[in-house]
Amino acid sequence: MIVCVCNRVSDRDINRLVSEGVSSFEELQLATGAATCCGRCESCARDTFEQAQHLHGRIHAQLHLDTVHPLPAPSIPLVPVVARPGHHEVAEASLATA
Ligand code: FES
Repeated sequence: MIVCVCNRVSDRDINRLVSEGVSSFEELQLATGAATCCGRCESCARDTFEQAQHLHGRIHAQLHLDTVHPLPAPSIPLVPVVARPGHHEVAEASLATA
């Protein structure tokens, strides 16, 4: 879907740039020119950008959880988490310092 007609920016362009590290709407504007001409696309461009951030944030969080290594001397038993497509695991822990 074309998001910005003036600059021919698509939702795929926005998703790709977010996956490559674009982290603010202003960076996206610099990279693509989206919402810098007539401005009619700004709301849609911002929504698409935010959706891409959520999507890629979830993917990065999931990748991080998949690569967490157990602590050397855990005080509680660690239960392996198997990520399945469509399922999200939320892990929370606190570390006590001496
Ligand atoms: S449609 Fe995006 S600036 Fe005009």
